[in-house]
Amino acid sequence: MSSELRTQVAIVGAGPAGLLLGQLLQRAGIDTLLLERRSADYVKGRIRAGVLEPGTVEVLEYADAARRVRAEGLTHDGVEIGSSGRRNRIALKELTGKLVTVYGQTEVTRDLMDARTTSGAPSVYEAEDVSVSDIGDSPRVRFSSNGETREVVCDFVAGCDGFHGVCRRSVPPDFLSISERKYPFGWLGVLADFRPPWAELIYAASDRGFALASMRSETRVRCYIQCSLDDSVEQWPDDRFWEEFGARVGQDIRVRIPNVPSLEKSIAPLRSFVAEPLRFGRLFLAGDAAHIVPPTGAKGLNLAVSDVFYLYEALRTFYKEGTERGIDHYSHRCLRRIWRAERFSWWMTRLLHRFPGDEFDQRMQQTELEYLFESHAAQSSLAENYVGLPL
Ligand code: APR
Ligand code: PHB
Repeated sequence: MSSELRTQVAIVGAGPAGLLLGQLLQRAGIDTLLLERRSADYVKGRIRAGVLEPGTVEVLEYADAARRVRAEGLTHDGVEIGSSGRRNRIALKELTGKLVTVYGQTEVTRDLMDARTTSGAPSVYEAEDVSVSDIGDSPRVRFSSNGETREVVCDFVAGCDGFHGVCRRSVPPDFLSISERKYPFGWLGVLADFRPPWAELIYAASDRGFALASMRSETRVRCYIQCSLDDSVEQWPDDRFWEEFGARVGQDIRVRIPNVPSLEKSIAPLRSFVAEPLRFGRLFLAGDAAHIVPPTGAKGLNLAVSDVFYLYEALRTFYKEGTERGIDHYSHRCLRRIWRAERFSWWMTRLLHRFPGDEFDQRMQQTELEYLFESHAAQSSLAENYVGLPL
């Protein structure tokens, strides 16, 4: 027989979205129970992107989880865009007055997990067979742990369980409208320990395809090349990767890459995806559970944070001010920002990747890059979107 648990907000998923929501609500005196199907170590071990908008850092600060971001994050006031060996700097700070922080999502997840442990708020890792029911009015979440089935009775469920989670799938399909674009290529990513011979991120377009030079710290780099979805990691030994990376980013960079073994190597598909609305009765979707952006705009984590901040505000005003205005507007408020980030990420992907297209498409892409390099207005638009639109 299942034993019953009670809480105000049941959060499914301990990625950055679920953990941050838990931290914000706990600090407002709203009870949460966090359910995660993987172990804490597995969640902490996932390699993900790492560019934080200033708005994201502010929210982490507000959640009292920004100490390491402030101490160890690398602030950048520009990015470089490369095209056929030429590189142009986009001066983010001059163009917007704002700068971005390079700090791995893995570290953000670790900081939030530590904050939750410190707060003493309840979490169940390795929660199996999580299912959500009665989300129309009196939601219940069932799960099994150590062979025992448990049931959580709550006021609301926050579906922060990512793209492959159970929460979005528990919404009646005809209630949701899905917009999706799959891209005909992937990103092959490599993590390696050496001092980055680039001071700022380099997004490079070339006839051979896209490449990105990023970093995790002053001694660790994260680099990507556009690859075929049929490729396997085995086909890309380290030296072949760096050869190709150098051919796309520039030989001036290639000659400064030491011959060190990679720490991690993986291929990820690229997708744009939005499920709307983000609310069904007393279930709210946030983060990757509701939307995916191709990583070219560095928006994935930042969008999850803005969803969660809006959901926190909606639930805080529900419990503290007795108004449903916030929860009624939650989906609309998120979608406005989600579609702008989707547009920017799609535009950056189209601008910088090699598509199987005709001569006309390639001339358009080339011309758009030249216009970007020459036009202050075009650079301002890129910068404004890259640092993030106001929350
Ligand atoms: N039951 C419990 N937990 C689940 C279930 C389930 N059925 N399905 C998935 N989860 C957990 C996953 O194991 C994962 O830890 O939900 C969590 C979802 O976390 P993320 O995928 O990191 O999603 P989110 O928190 O929304 O963060 C979005 O992650 O993928 C990046 O680019 C993306 O930066 C963005 C960020
Ligand atoms: C990363 O550091 O992994 C990274 C940075 C910027 C992106 C995507 C990924 O746009």
